[in-house]
Amino acid sequence: MLEGKHILVGISGGIAAYKIPELIRRLRQAGAEVKVTTTKNALQFVTELTLQTLSGNKVYHDVFAAINDHSTEHISLPDWSDAMIVAPATANVLDKMAHGIADDALTTTFAAMRKPVVIAPAMNDKMYASEAVQESLTQLSKRHNITVMDCAEGYLACGTTGKGRMQEIDCIAEALCYALTNHDMTNKHVLLTAGPTREAIDPVRYLTNHSSGKMGYSLARECWRRGAMVTLVSGPVSIPLPIPVLFGEKTRFTRMTVESAQQMYEAAMQALDEAHVIILCAAVADYRMTEVSTTKIKKTSDSPLLTLTLTENPDIAAAIGEAKRPKQQLIGFALETDHAEEHAIQKLKAKKLDWIVLNSLQDPGAGFGVDTNKVCLLSRKGTKKDIPLMSKENVAQAIISAIL
Ligand code: PMT
Repeated sequence: MLEGKHILVGISGGIAAYKIPELIRRLRQAGAEVKVTTTKNALQFVTELTLQTLSGNKVYHDVFAAINDHSTEHISLPDWSDAMIVAPATANVLDKMAHGIADDALTTTFAAMRKPVVIAPAMNDKMYASEAVQESLTQLSKRHNITVMDCAEGYLACGTTGKGRMQEIDCIAEALCYALTNHDMTNKHVLLTAGPTREAIDPVRYLTNHSSGKMGYSLARECWRRGAMVTLVSGPVSIPLPIPVLFGEKTRFTRMTVESAQQMYEAAMQALDEAHVIILCAAVADYRMTEVSTTKIKKTSDSPLLTLTLTENPDIAAAIGEAKRPKQQLIGFALETDHAEEHAIQKLKAKKLDWIVLNSLQDPGAGFGVDTNKVCLLSRKGTKKDIPLMSKENVAQAIISAIL
């Protein structure tokens, strides 16, 4: 989502400024172009050379030097940018931004900014809790183009522990994606399943599949970015999920981690009632051991064959298809190897889905594990929409746009 975007990073003078070079590097790795403006004090914590080298651009920190250049960067930078991040935002800079004070490079640039802005505050916990700072945060968060992040709790540079830490770099990047997204799912609740399930054979081994969770997590993130409340029921995967906490907002993202299909079924049914949209992307094991051995199954010399007796697992999609209310939208996935469309349509009908998203292992770059996917959306009403090979993040955007 950040590919080709112009991001302006504003740094003020707090110790958390030492983390911002890493943020700039991540933004550039994600394909964004970055320019930097700072307060004078920020350059006590991070050098101009570091910022210039990592952003690939001159750093704007002196309003009068700019005038000598016959340029007005505090106007041209907002015009150039698609969005701005102010991180860390100190108490001083927050209060200035809230009250329209523009007396240095960063605050004059902010004053001229009409595009989305993400503010990541960082300061001592007592300063953060002060009335002045809380009022400034409240005022700023009411502005249509501003996303204010809350501070995190934890160890602070002043040696105490409390609420005043800047949220992690990945959370700031995610808040930027949220700020750049149209919030067309506000007031919608989305229930998703993602990843594989594990069915225990004995205390050491299990049955599973190759699902990495990447497709399901991309969909969950996309729904969050669009403003939805998200409940993600996830099988065992190792995907980082940096969801920022926004100022004044209750967390909109709940992740329930499960192992087996039975646990996934129970968690999904528990969250079903409040869901408006249900997206079942998990690769659920159709069978489990009829009896899980309590001790490790030993190799025997009697026979080279081992027979496992399996019992069918509950089908989450079919159960929801039966139980769902008319206004709930149910979207399933199908991963096929042959007769793909025919099998997908059978599943669409049998499980009473509104849409099925078909991905085929015949298509290079699609399906399990990879960062890309190529899918075909088929609806109960007979609509068909092909989504070409692209990143799972972009496929998730296209799927959500198609089903809304
Ligand atoms: O996780 P990744 O590595 O990114 O890969 C993504 C994916 C390939 C796993 C994903 O895109 C996908 O296709 N998921 C569904 C895979 C699958 O096994 O589908 P299925 O044909 O077995 O099931 C059809 C539908 O019923 C699916 O929505 C599935 O979640 C659901 N189902 C199946 C069995 C079951 N017991 N309960 C279910 O809810």
